[in-house]
Amino acid sequence: MPKSKIKGVGFYVPDKVIKNSDLEEIMDTSDEWIQERTGIKERRWVEGDLTTSLMGTYASKIAIKNAKISKNDIDFIIFATLSPDYFFPGSGVLLQKNLQIKEVGALDIRNQCSGFIYGLSVADQYIKSGMYENILVVGSEIHSGGLDKSSRGRSVSVIFGDGAGAAIVSKSNDESEILSTHLHSEGKFAEELAVIKPATTFWIDKIIDDGDEDGEGFFPKMNGNFVFKNAVKRFEEVIFESLNHNNYTSKDIDMLITHQANLRISQYIQKKLNIDDNNIFNNIMSYGNTTAASIPIALYEALKKNKIKRGDLVCLAAFGSGFTWASALIRW
Ligand code: COA
Repeated sequence: MPKSKIKGVGFYVPDKVIKNSDLEEIMDTSDEWIQERTGIKERRWVEGDLTTSLMGTYASKIAIKNAKISKNDIDFIIFATLSPDYFFPGSGVLLQKNLQIKEVGALDIRNQCSGFIYGLSVADQYIKSGMYENILVVGSEIHSGGLDKSSRGRSVSVIFGDGAGAAIVSKSNDESEILSTHLHSEGKFAEELAVIKPATTFWIDKIIDDGDEDGEGFFPKMNGNFVFKNAVKRFEEVIFESLNHNNYTSKDIDMLITHQANLRISQYIQKKLNIDDNNIFNNIMSYGNTTAASIPIALYEALKKNKIKRGDLVCLAAFGSGFTWASALIRW
């Protein structure tokens, strides 16, 4: 059976830096509160005409270059986002248009913070089945336009940032391989972290009829404490699931990259798994939570800083809205 590997990674974040002190100006919050509860110091927010698919395109160009392939070698596109350019079509075809990729399939994934690993898993299965050889997997998000930036929305809006990451998943002819992926979801908690409007439950005509003058349903709603408790439990479970599946222990992990939801969540998992500081990478301090983009952004930076070497055992794990959660274990 063919094996798959991550051949190249890229990332893109907007230039505009929003520091915690900038948020202090527009809502009732403080740098101290944000850093203490989330670890975040700053995040990026888009300006001008930048779109989700365009940021994904910039990240993809870097991933394609790093994978040393041509865009003409890509035979499938997977685009994960909760903040697509349009209601339809999905951002995958827009990225295809931007990159001028030939008429390959383009699949959109809606699994929020777990979206990148869900995409990686789909790519892995397609390559293992022999169907494709080079798949572009993208996670890209623009949160900034959809946040309630008043004090009412402060517990959510201080967390999220904009950005994109991309990976080329290719057929492997060497020792590098995606060893396994594990995916989960628990729909009974769908509304614990959600944006519910506009969509078919609250379709435009209903919104106009009902009136939603303060726009509340359009902003993300999060039961923060409940999300936190479920996140730490599911992260731990799904990491152990991948380790057990491959007969490894947490001591074998050379690099752990968790979805950057909250630094306290990552630190809790690090402690639970007894992982050394050198074997985990966090960058939420600089970018906030970029949902589907956070893992490929962190992966890119960890590689750039030479924190991952060939042959290392790399574990990726995510948890997010849905609830969904997932892991991938990779021999780099
Ligand atoms: N600035 C200042 N104060 C704030 C604030 C902000 N941005 N947001 C909330 N507060 C206040 C609350 O109003 C509350 O005040 P009160 O005690 O007077 O009522 C107090 O801080 C504590 O709020 P609480 O929501 O209990 O804080 P918390 O310790 O749970 O931290 C989160 C809030 C959101 C940081 C935390 O719950 C969390 O990280 N959850 C997981 C989020 C996550 O990972 N989401 C993405 C999943 S992928």
